[in-house]
Amino acid sequence: MQVIPSGAALGAEIQDVELGGVSDLDFSEIHRAWLDHLVLRFRGQRLDVEDLIRFSRRFGELDWAPVQETGRRFVEGHPEIYVVSNVIENGVPIGSLGAGEAVWHTDMSYLENPPKASMLYALEIPPSGGDTYFCNMYRAYESLPDALKRRISNLSLKHDATYNSGGYVRQGLAATDDPISSSGVVHAIVRTHPETGRAALYLGRRRNAYVAGMPLAESETLLDELWSYATHDDIAWSNQWQPGDVVLWDNRCTMHRRDSFDPNTRRILYRTQIKSVSGERM
Ligand code: SIN
Repeated sequence: MQVIPSGAALGAEIQDVELGGVSDLDFSEIHRAWLDHLVLRFRGQRLDVEDLIRFSRRFGELDWAPVQETGRRFVEGHPEIYVVSNVIENGVPIGSLGAGEAVWHTDMSYLENPPKASMLYALEIPPSGGDTYFCNMYRAYESLPDALKRRISNLSLKHDATYNSGGYVRQGLAATDDPISSSGVVHAIVRTHPETGRAALYLGRRRNAYVAGMPLAESETLLDELWSYATHDDIAWSNQWQPGDVVLWDNRCTMHRRDSFDPNTRRILYRTQIKSVSGERM
């Protein structure tokens, strides 16, 4: 097995490993590489659903997939698997997020205890578009001026639950653009990663985000300033998907977004979400 760093601010490719049967020794190297590089790509994998779940579980217990905007929950019989797809069968989307852009976000940060990691496995990929970008939120934090670091050190942020990253309203919630009253949960803006001990910015999503207790206009200005540091090209890396790619990322120190693609082409990926355990919560 080889670990090939991307040369960007995050990301590495792991070569010469079959995720259907990973030894304990290889797993500990993969785990180390994941903490060091934040996002890992494994190409050319041939996994069935059980293999994907088994490999994901090496990192910890799995969360159930969030409910899709259409109300469907998961791959039948596998509540752990979230389907990311624009494909429509018998008039019903088989997955979430459509074919439009998915804006920068961290998965499921609207929960009290968001998953520490997510893993995407590519089944069908369009000929162009749909690239996924990741940014390094340790580096985003480190790039802030000292005065801004001091200003946010004890501040918390409300992470909106209303919209998913494709801009769709989540099942059971009403559309709103009021950051103060929208439903969501509050997390510290600066969090210490429980496994690396490094400080990272934790911003979740921009839409309807709100700095707890601040006048709204002040919160908007502060968030715009923080976001301007978070998504610079020089702290990002992107994956141009191929069928058989598995990409694993750390939600505690990265965000991601996806380019749009031609809605007349097919894109299907399966995603698992790995829970934070209580000792590891931030
Ligand atoms: C996601 O945000 O989990 C999906 C990203 C993608 O479609 O590439």
